[in-house]
Amino acid sequence: MMSPILSLKNITYQYPDGTIALNDISLSLDPGKKIALIGNNGAGKSTLFLLLNGILKPTSGNLIFNGEKLTYKRKEIKLLRKLVGIVFQNPETQLFSSSIYEDIKFGPKNLGLSQLELEKVVQDAMVLTETEALKDKPPHFLSIGQKKRVAIAGIIAMNPRLMILDEPTAGLDPYYSKKIMSLLEDIHNKNRTIILSTHNVDLAYEWADEIIVLHDGKIIEQGAPCEVFQNEAAIKLSHLEKPWVIEVFEKLQDGLGPQNQQYPKSKQELFKMLKTQKTLC
Ligand SMILES: Nc1ncnc2c1ncn2[C@@H]1O[C@H](COP(=O)(O)OP(=O)(O)OP(=O)(O)O)[C@@H](O)[C@H]1O
Ligand SMILES: [Mg+2]
Repeated sequence: MMSPILSLKNITYQYPDGTIALNDISLSLDPGKKIALIGNNGAGKSTLFLLLNGILKPTSGNLIFNGEKLTYKRKEIKLLRKLVGIVFQNPETQLFSSSIYEDIKFGPKNLGLSQLELEKVVQDAMVLTETEALKDKPPHFLSIGQKKRVAIAGIIAMNPRLMILDEPTAGLDPYYSKKIMSLLEDIHNKNRTIILSTHNVDLAYEWADEIIVLHDGKIIEQGAPCEVFQNEAAIKLSHLEKPWVIEVFEKLQDGLGPQNQQYPKSKQELFKMLKTQKTLC
């Protein structure tokens, strides 16, 4: 097993006004994982992401990067940001250039690519996120969903080993939500870790191979999607609901017979299960 890209050891973060946003968090982000972070408003998701990218510094505890404690020296932070890319919850904090093209280019520009390579990565990212037609526009003219896609294009162009996306589909219509999620599926590989936050439990359940539930700055549940959503207390505490696939399955479970006691992973699997009566998840 490859060593984690980043890990957190007993991290607590307190904002200057005294709010304890994260309370003794320990966590490993292993290569190849697709992780969904879920939890109620104010649970600490965005704060956790800002710590992972070195934007915030823990009040206590340590970030372990490349096997060593991060000491927040400039050089270290520069390297960290090369390998760890973030799409902020509010894309407006991310877009500040005079055009979309310049914005998407901003991240990869510092990666030491040749002019030709740079143009190619930006072009490819625009095609993947369908933002090409917007490239000459100033960011403030864009709709929220368009801004979000441009911010995502910026991180894709950087090709980081750890990709952090804070509510990537918030504000996106169903077409673009699906598009971005399948894009994240495509670019996922053995070497890369993707961690995203979302309030969409259906999306978290289908996409992730690990789910972390954060509540009041603490991890209250963590594991495979099938297991996490069986923790009714954690789900309720976090203002979440079960994914509809699970709800329907549970309602039908009695009728499905003993061979079908495992949860389907998606709508397609549920339909298939209903048809063939086979065990899935
Ligand atoms: N700059 C700040 N100063 C003081 N408190 C803050 C600051 N930013 C966030 N907080 C507090 O820290 C806690 C965690 O906030 P955070 O934004 O990390 O939650 P979240 O899980 O991302 O919520 P949401 O689902 O609404 O995005 C909240 O209680 C919030 O009020
Ligand atoms: Mg947030």
